[in-house]
Amino acid sequence: MQDISSSLKSAGKTIGFIPTMGFLHEGHLSLVKRSKELCDATIVSIFVNPTQFSPSEDLTQYPRDIEKDNKLLLEQKVDYLFYPDADEIYPENFQTFVTVNHITKKLEGEFRPTHFKGVTTVVNILINCVMPDYAFLGQKDAQQAAVIKQMVNDLKIPVNIVVCPIVRETDGLAMSSRNVYLSKDERKDALALYKALRNANKMIDEGERRVSLIISEMMTIIEKLKSSKLKYIKIVESKSFETVEELKSSNEYYILIACKIGNTRLIDNELIKVE
Ligand code: PAJ
Repeated sequence: MQDISSSLKSAGKTIGFIPTMGFLHEGHLSLVKRSKELCDATIVSIFVNPTQFSPSEDLTQYPRDIEKDNKLLLEQKVDYLFYPDADEIYPENFQTFVTVNHITKKLEGEFRPTHFKGVTTVVNILINCVMPDYAFLGQKDAQQAAVIKQMVNDLKIPVNIVVCPIVRETDGLAMSSRNVYLSKDERKDALALYKALRNANKMIDEGERRVSLIISEMMTIIEKLKSSKLKYIKIVESKSFETVEELKSSNEYYILIACKIGNTRLIDNELIKVE
């Protein structure tokens, strides 16, 4: 991979990189499209990263379809697919991990304490293999994007991070590889995440600034459903991910939600700009 990237660079080409775990959908492909607009060459990686799953999570069950992924990437005219084996990324005697301290402790990090350490480690390794000028991440995983930005800044990794908007199904459900786990009824219920976010957005548009009230309305929408097990709803300042009690003018916030529908853990969020 490094040899290929070195030749692209010596030919004066800029490289755009999209790290993924495969089972690609329009959300992933939107990142590919953005890379193709901005960069001369586009490289996608598919690697279901074992270190970001805890023993109780869905590593072995994580959906995979490399043939379909490959076809989609060919259709998008992606230049290279980087598809390493687990023992190439983590050979025997592997001992080095990258941890980002503060921002990884909250929200997703509270529920999945080892998750971000796996993400930052693998993204670091993948970036070192691909040596991209730009890396494209989805706002779907807003905290992940913030954690990776923090790592890139702190370690002075020479790459520009571009965060792209959430791609949704026509009814509003955020696209996710995990949506295939949902039964027909759960798929209907899963829409509650989006409904709750829309409701919050409307309250804020109408002038509500008290976070506790916005969140309690969201909780009502989610907790009405039998299939739902709410993990968290938080409103945080968009850069620091610090929670706030009241929204202030000229600030940007994320409203973030994590919820199990049946056995499937879903996350969604919305970026809010308060006038
Ligand atoms: P994965 O879940 O495959 O997602 C790869 C990238 O696609 C992430 O940046 C994610 O935010 C983005 N993405 C997923 N669904 C999206 C949607 N509906 N709209 C826009 N972008 C979307 O995230 C990972 O893999 C892994 O943690 C990884 C970064 C590859 C490290 O292993």
